Amino acid sequence: MAISKRVKGGLNGASWVRRMFEEGEELKQKYGEKNVFDFSLGNPNLEPPASLKKALKTLADHPITGMHRYMPNSGYSETRKAIAEYLTEESGLPFEEKHIIMTVGAAGGLNVVLKAILDEGDEVIVPSPYFMEFKFYIENCGGEIRLVQTNEDFSLNLMEIEKAIGKRTKAILINFPNNPTGVVYDQKSLENLGELLKRKNRELGKTLYLITDEAYRRIVYDQIKLPIIFHCYPHTLRVTSHSKDLSLPGERIGYIAISPFCEEIDEMVSALIFANRTLGFVNAPALMQRLVAPLQRNSVNIKDYEEKRDLFYHSLKDFGYQVIKPQGAFYIFPKAPIEDDVDFVKELQSKRILTVPGRGFGKSGYFRIAYCVEKKMIEDSLQGFKEVAEKYGINGK
Ligand SMILES: Cc1ncc(COP(=O)(O)O)c(C=O)c1O
Repeated sequence: MAISKRVKGGLNGASWVRRMFEEGEELKQKYGEKNVFDFSLGNPNLEPPASLKKALKTLADHPITGMHRYMPNSGYSETRKAIAEYLTEESGLPFEEKHIIMTVGAAGGLNVVLKAILDEGDEVIVPSPYFMEFKFYIENCGGEIRLVQTNEDFSLNLMEIEKAIGKRTKAILINFPNNPTGVVYDQKSLENLGELLKRKNRELGKTLYLITDEAYRRIVYDQIKLPIIFHCYPHTLRVTSHSKDLSLPGERIGYIAISPFCEEIDEMVSALIFANRTLGFVNAPALMQRLVAPLQRNSVNIKDYEEKRDLFYHSLKDFGYQVIKPQGAFYIFPKAPIEDDVDFVKELQSKRILTVPGRGFGKSGYFRIAYCVEKKMIEDSLQGFKEVAEKYGINGK
C-alpha cells in the first residue's frame, strides 16, 4: 500500500470513540435503535436557537449580492469585529478585528494554530486525560505530543508540566471545560501556569505559547465564572467554535482569538491567515459567519445539560461509582470498578449501554459518558449501570 507511514500509524490506532460508535451500530441493528443507550459520541442533541433559524430564513429570502463568493482568508470583517467586541466586553482587554481569525470549527482552528507555530520535532505539552485528536493535529504539523498527567481530581499538575518543559517545547495545549472529564481549571491554577511559562521563557530564552481549546466555553454549570485565559499569560491563542454552544457541529464554524499582548502579533496574525489558506480551509463557511456574528451572547439552553449532569452524577454516586462532579461540557468520566476499562465497557454493552474506555483519552481504568442525549435515554439506562455496579460489589450490597 502506498499510504504514508504516519497515516497508517493513525489508522492502526483507530479512535476508541469511533470503535464504540461502530459497535453501537451493530447493537442497534440487533436490538433496535430505541433499545440501545448510546453515550459514545459528543454530538449535541439540542437544536440550535430559534433566532439562528430565523436569521437563516431571512438570508435565504433576502440574499445579499456576493454572499457565496470568496472572501479574505481571515473571514468577514463584520463577524470578526462582532467577536472582538464580545471578547473586549468579557475580558476588558483591547480586542480588535485583527485578533480574530474565523476557522472551520475548533478542529480547523487548532490545526491552523499548530501549523503556524510548529517546526519539525517541536513538542507540545498536553495534560492527560485529553481529547485524542490533539495527537493527530500536532503530528499533522510535524510536532510531537508530550503528555503530562493531571492530579487525581483532573486539575492541572504544575510540577509535572514544569518537568516536561525543555528545549524542544514550543507550546502547551490545554482544554477546559474538559473533554473527557468535564473539569474546569480555576483562576489560580491558570495564573500559576502563566507565571511558570514566563519563568521558563526567561530560563530558555524563548517564547512558549499557551493554546487553549475552549470549545465548551459556554457550557458551564453551578453559575461558576470561567477564568479568562488572556488575563493569565500574554502569548495565548484561544480556539473555540459554535459547535456546542449553538449546536452547530456539522456547520464547521469557529475562530481563533489571539491575545492583544502576544509578541510579534502582526507576524502571528499573518502566519495564522497563511495556515488557514494553505491547509486548504481557505476560509470559514460564509453563511455561518454571517449567522453567528449577532449571536455571540446566545447559546442553547445550558440548564438542559446541567439537569442531565445532575441526574447522571447523583445516580452514579448512589450506585457506588467514584466520580468527579463535572463543572462543564457534557461528559462525565467515572472510575471503572475494575482495572480493565475495556472489559468494563464491554460489561456495560451487555446492558446495551455504550460508553468509551478511558484509554481512548489516555487514562485507563476510567470510562467516558457523553450525556448530550435525550433525558429519557439516561433514565432508561440507569438500571443497567446499577446492575453492573452490583455485579462488581461497589454499591455495598
Ligand atoms: C475538546 C474538543 N476540541 C475540539 C473539538 C472539535 O470541535 P469542532 O466541532 O468545533 O471542530 C471537540 C469536539 O468534540 C472537542 O471535544
